[in-house]
Amino acid sequence: MKGLIIYKGRYGATMEYSIWLGATLNFPVVKADFVKPEQLTQADYVLIGTSVYIGRLQIAGWLKNLAPLLEGKKLIFLVVGGSAPDHPEKILGYYEHDVPASLRKNAVCFPLPGRLHYRQLSLKDKLLLRAGAWLSARKGETISLADYNMVSRENLAPVIEAVRLLGTCAFTSQKSFT
Ligand SMILES: Cc1cc2nc3c(=O)[nH]c(=O)nc-3n(C[C@H](O)[C@H](O)[C@H](O)COP(=O)(O)O)c2cc1C
Repeated sequence: MKGLIIYKGRYGATMEYSIWLGATLNFPVVKADFVKPEQLTQADYVLIGTSVYIGRLQIAGWLKNLAPLLEGKKLIFLVVGGSAPDHPEKILGYYEHDVPASLRKNAVCFPLPGRLHYRQLSLKDKLLLRAGAWLSARKGETISLADYNMVSRENLAPVIEAVRLLGTCAFTSQKSFT
């Protein structure tokens, strides 16, 4: 069985998780923008890493374009966000919104905690984050502008286990929380 890891993120958290997984599982790791269609067609299963910005998966547009090439394949989504540890249901909501049902049939989703270094953000992202925090506060919710870093290899243990199980058991649609 041939595996492939594809990722799309902005500041390195999703890339770091993907590279760790690639090294552990010995799978090629490719940035989504550079994936060749034949790499997708040749893979038996694909791990798809993406971060979340304002409730949308970074990889949403790419998925929309290439969904036909992924249909019928076993997929594992790694969705990296600030709300992952405390509110995995939010991450799952973004996943259900942005991943077509035809792909979710054969997929599992692992929410993974990310990191934020405010000073490293582009001006656009700083403004977006501040706007998001302001809007959330009006709804009685909190989006923190403070730095955090929850990215660690240990968070990948359930993902690695899921990949190992792929070869030995049936793989049906299910939801998964780390
Ligand atoms: C402008 C902005 C919007 C964000 N929106 C969300 C969000 O809606 N939900 C969430 O869980 N995390 C959100 N985050 C946190 C990012 O998903 C987190 O920093 C992640 O680790 C980024 O990963 P990357 O470096 O691979 O892009 C946001 C961060 C920024 C800067």
